[in-house]
Amino acid sequence: MNNRASPTPLGAEPGLRTRLTALCDEGWEIWSRFDTDVRQHAWHPFVAADYECVLHTLLTLRAPGGRFLEWGSAHGVITIMADLLGFEAYGIELDATLVRIARELADRYESRARFAAGSFLPGGYQWNPRSGDTRLGTIGQGTPAYAELGHPLEDFDVVFAFPWTGEEPMMHDVMRRYGGRAARLLLYGVSTGVEVYCGGRREG
Ligand SMILES: C[S@@+](CC[C@H](N)C(=O)[O-])C[C@H]1O[C@@H](n2cnc3c(N)ncnc32)[C@H](O)[C@@H]1O
Repeated sequence: MNNRASPTPLGAEPGLRTRLTALCDEGWEIWSRFDTDVRQHAWHPFVAADYECVLHTLLTLRAPGGRFLEWGSAHGVITIMADLLGFEAYGIELDATLVRIARELADRYESRARFAAGSFLPGGYQWNPRSGDTRLGTIGQGTPAYAELGHPLEDFDVVFAFPWTGEEPMMHDVMRRYGGRAARLLLYGVSTGVEVYCGGRREG
């Protein structure tokens, strides 16, 4: 993987910009339907990140052969975006209905993004913070999905997640224990945008 660069402008790739815009627009439509049909009736952890903000960061990390993973990929927009940008892109999502929606969306965009239904928490992982509070917040538990993807966490160059407030330390812990040494962890927050970490330290 290269070091981070300035965002590569998409002006030289107008076809790609058009596809990304269409993907994001469709992503918001799917999210809106999901909000009405599912979240208005029962609590669900899926809320969507700001796609343009995530796109801006991915453009600084774009590199041939880069392998991308989205933890909690929901309807797949960000993983598909990474694939369209040239990453080998994978998403893991606990909700199998969302995985089906993501696969259908990938087909519509002729994307090779791959999705697995299951948990992004590696097998045997336990969260043991100093505080002693081992609750995982909104992060659910299920069968680890890495075997289905064919790659352990350490194989990924870029890992993206949109944690709910307070879940960030657990994600750093998972990366420290199972992630690649030079891997980037991208954490999106509504008020912070995308923060990029490498080896537990914030970049830029
Ligand atoms: C805040 S949403 C983020 C959705 C998407 N990444 C985005 O940024 O637009 C978190 C997603 O993680 C999923 N999730 C929660 N726990 C998970 C786990 N252990 N493994 C995989 N997905 C999980 C939820 O079902 C939800 O879709």
